[in-house]
Amino acid sequence: MKRLTDLLMVLFFAVMLSACGRQSEESYVGQSESPKSTEQTETSATVTEELSMDAESEDSSLVDAKDAQIKEGNDSVVNDITFDFETKTVMLNSGYEMPIYGLGTYSLTGKTCVDSVTTALNSGVRLIDTAYMYHNEESVGEAVRNSGIPREEIFVITKLYPNQFDHPETAIEEVLEKLDIEYIDMMLLHHPGTDDVKAYLAMEKAVKEGKIRSIGLSNWYVEELEKFLPQVNITPALVQNEIHPYYQENDVIPYIQGLGIVVQGWYPLGGRGYTAELLGNGVISEIAQAHGKSSAQVILRWNLQKGVVVIPGSSNPDHIKENTELFDFELTEEEMEHMNALDRGEKHDWY
Ligand SMILES: NC(=O)c1ccc[n+]([C@@H]2O[C@H](COP(=O)([O-])OP(=O)(O)OC[C@H]3O[C@@H](n4cnc5c(N)ncnc54)[C@H](OP(=O)(O)O)[C@@H]3O)[C@@H](O)[C@H]2O)c1
Repeated sequence: MKRLTDLLMVLFFAVMLSACGRQSEESYVGQSESPKSTEQTETSATVTEELSMDAESEDSSLVDAKDAQIKEGNDSVVNDITFDFETKTVMLNSGYEMPIYGLGTYSLTGKTCVDSVTTALNSGVRLIDTAYMYHNEESVGEAVRNSGIPREEIFVITKLYPNQFDHPETAIEEVLEKLDIEYIDMMLLHHPGTDDVKAYLAMEKAVKEGKIRSIGLSNWYVEELEKFLPQVNITPALVQNEIHPYYQENDVIPYIQGLGIVVQGWYPLGGRGYTAELLGNGVISEIAQAHGKSSAQVILRWNLQKGVVVIPGSSNPDHIKENTELFDFELTEEEMEHMNALDRGEKHDWY
């Protein structure tokens, strides 16, 4: 009986030991797998976090770089895009100086264009605005080349039209050939349009290759700029928009200037078909009379005092000369306010 009891005791302890062993094995598994998996989870969480932080920091460094570019421009707004009325130039964020008044060549073609640009250059004008769409780049180039004025002293702006945006590199080569003046001082995109970012990036490439010195935009307003700028690398040096006393863009101008970008106004005299009414405006005529100047000169001076570059168009030698005589008088604050009060939000062209 004692033997049987002993045997049962042994069996009992054996079962107990085996149960403990299993439990400890389970515990081991539990302790080893779970922490391992926790560790893995933690590790992968860390990796994911690190990766996402990397991605974030990469993203933000890209954003920072673009911001920095814009901020760089911003600084230059305060320091550099202020007009120098002595030299009659403004320093662009590209590092190049641009005259603050010039000649627009829209609707001037062939001999009329060559003669007008020649008259302007002989009158001291050093900024000429042309565009693919004006069909006069060859004429502008001819007048510049034949002027006898050192190339470096003349600043030529041209523009790519939206129908060129899908083949910008060829378009740039073509205009270089047409102008035939070694390089382009400033190239703008004429309007927003399909492939405008692609065209702008091609202009950026041409800047790096020394074919174009500065680049910018035309007919871009606040919304368009907010969408466009994050997609490009070089902050535009210039935005050329419709600006005249009846369409003043008083909300747009400070926004653009605040980015370190110079603003240039097209249709400064209202544009063909509108000039007579604008130049005959009573307020403007009165201010003009007070200074012994013409209405056109008052409008152009008002632009300059607002930090807006002017490019009036003309084929009349007297007008071309008159439009250069803007630096021997100054509008008072009150006169500026009277001019500002003429705004009607009245656009004279569709874009
Ligand atoms: N980026 C764009 O989308 C865009 C659009 C339009 C224009 N632009 C550019 O902006 C430039 C200016 O525009 P615009 O030429 O069409 O219009 P504008 O400069 O507003 O007006 C030109 C008209 O004003 C007359 N004029 C010029 N000076 C005068 C003066 N001192 N006294 C009286 N009349 C005077 C001219 O006639 P006379 O020939 O008889 O002097 C011409 O008929 C264009 O030439 C072009 O380069 C750009």
